[in-house]
Amino acid sequence: MTFEILERAAAGRLGRFTTAHGKVTTPTLMPVVNPNISLLTPRQMRDQFGTQMVITNSYVLNKHEALRTKALAEGVHKVLDWDGPTMTDSGTFQMYVYGDVQLQNDTIVGFQRDIGVDVATCFDIFVTPDMGRAEAEAAVAATIARTKEAVPHKGNSLLNATVQGGVHYDLRKLCAEAYRDLDVDYHTIGGVVPVMEQQMYPELAEMILWSQAGLRKDRPVHLFGAGHPLIFPLAVALGCDLFDSSAYAKYAKDGRMMFEWGTAHLAELAELPCACPVCSKHGADGLKALPGKEKETALAEHNLHVSFADLRRIRTAIQEGSLWELVEQRSACHPMLAAATRKLGDPTYQAWLEQREPVSHTRALRYTGSLTHQRPIFRRIRERLQTRFVPQGEPVEMEMDTGFANKGDMRRELGMHKEPGGKPYFAGRGSLDAAMDHAVVCALGPVPAGLDEAYPFAQSVLPRLEGLDRGHMGWVGETKDLFLAAHGFVPAIPGPGGKDGGVQFGKLQVLRTADWQFGAGAGAALIAGDLRLETSRATGKLRTVHLGDEHILSLRAHDGFWTLKIAGARLVHKALPSPANRVVVAADSVPFNRAGKSVFAQFVKTMDEGLRPGDECLVVDEQDTLIAVGQLLLAPDEVHDFKKGMAVRVREGIPV
Ligand code: GUN
Ligand code: ZN
Repeated sequence: MTFEILERAAAGRLGRFTTAHGKVTTPTLMPVVNPNISLLTPRQMRDQFGTQMVITNSYVLNKHEALRTKALAEGVHKVLDWDGPTMTDSGTFQMYVYGDVQLQNDTIVGFQRDIGVDVATCFDIFVTPDMGRAEAEAAVAATIARTKEAVPHKGNSLLNATVQGGVHYDLRKLCAEAYRDLDVDYHTIGGVVPVMEQQMYPELAEMILWSQAGLRKDRPVHLFGAGHPLIFPLAVALGCDLFDSSAYAKYAKDGRMMFEWGTAHLAELAELPCACPVCSKHGADGLKALPGKEKETALAEHNLHVSFADLRRIRTAIQEGSLWELVEQRSACHPMLAAATRKLGDPTYQAWLEQREPVSHTRALRYTGSLTHQRPIFRRIRERLQTRFVPQGEPVEMEMDTGFANKGDMRRELGMHKEPGGKPYFAGRGSLDAAMDHAVVCALGPVPAGLDEAYPFAQSVLPRLEGLDRGHMGWVGETKDLFLAAHGFVPAIPGPGGKDGGVQFGKLQVLRTADWQFGAGAGAALIAGDLRLETSRATGKLRTVHLGDEHILSLRAHDGFWTLKIAGARLVHKALPSPANRVVVAADSVPFNRAGKSVFAQFVKTMDEGLRPGDECLVVDEQDTLIAVGQLLLAPDEVHDFKKGMAVRVREGIPV
């Protein structure tokens, strides 16, 4: 297997990329190594920065007689004195910079194969952002044709197919889709260097989004020529797994230092705002006083220290689920970057991103500022409040006209509770008036009673309403109005809960959270009967749910969602018709899943496209017989694309 997803956040993936010369943990950066003039050797880079993979240029290797001879005789790894994963580029970039490069696609791909590179690159055509549509279209067509031509020449190397299209976004998707069924292994998003140089970050974001929209999800994606940490969080959040950098050396040559917040000239710095070994050792004056080549090397080292540290930070953010926060924080470093992040709030992009957004994270959701409310999870909250909520209160006749209803209308009342200081909002408040539904309006919208222990409602840190930015306040207001309208609610001041008639919290939590997770109607099926709730002595929180004699649900402590026991799964299966919550597996997988073994992606026939990574799901055969229950690890389109690897971690199988 070439690429596996280990952890995820936003559309970002912490992955494992396997090459003939070892495994690479992504996202990562491959420094560009120039075989002619190298400030640092790959082995030095591994020792100093933890470099896992490097990239060099096959055009340069092929052009110089001595290098070509050595590379062909001993391999590219010997030339670089490096035994780790190695990629080569083809000469496209030189063609873009210098214009006249004499090169044949099949020759240069064959050369890369012959020197034993791990990832070889086709001779694609660089589409610049100023190209008109016709020219871009022709270049994309030629790039696709060259990629097809290169496939039979790849030998034992993995083959990289580059997505071009410039700023004609639909061409990007078209180009990416043309690669889906080709025998290629790896993708770069190309033609982005001039866009990055001109700090056209909104366009960069759209180039990535549209390329990703067409690409297969089971191959690593590399943003070609991107080596400045400023944009790493955003690019990773949009699914980029690898970066390459010659910038570290080019900047060093000009006396420029990269920081994750931007770039500065050493000459202009009185102090060094950096804790890397180079800066710590020399200080600003010491660094300025170094002789030419030594200074250049020191600056290159600093640039790589900063870049690799940022990638460690990003991988950590994926692991703990705080990548969106990092993206938003980084956006504050450059106005155009902020504009790029704001672009992700466009409904189309938000919808794309929502499909990859995991159901929960181990770390609480945190507000960073005015970009927070356009995260995909907020779209999900708004949607599900309308579609995955079933009102319980009885309709009452309006006694007078209100802003929401007229006298005589039959409406349900929604008890609007004051925003409390702590969380969860409802548990521990005593009983609620059973005649109406209840919600607290907060920065996450109207949070209904019973849903307030689930992610992100309990697992979040946001300001109280009065502390929010205006955009976020607007989101709250609209979301509340949509919720009221969807269920025919009128807002009401909640009365005191009756002693006997009060709502039982635990039951409400089963109902609301199950509807939220599985769809409207699931909750009612799970509480229909003799419900027995067991709470934890230590925390007072619900732990298990029995219906009659059967254990149907357990609470997932970290996110407050239900895990399904077989008896619970049967109820959901019966309550909601196919394809809801289903993952349909091929006949040859059935016995394994019945025995409790996981579902592998290649055995999935179809599935509920509404499922999200981390969702509880029903594993069924092609006749819709329930055979197991488990947790989905991938997004639906990933399940379709991955030919290997686990799709559902089965928790319990149902033996025949
Ligand atoms: N290096 C930077 N951008 C590109 C690109 O679009 N194609 C190739 N082959 N190399 C690049
Ligand atoms: Zn430094």
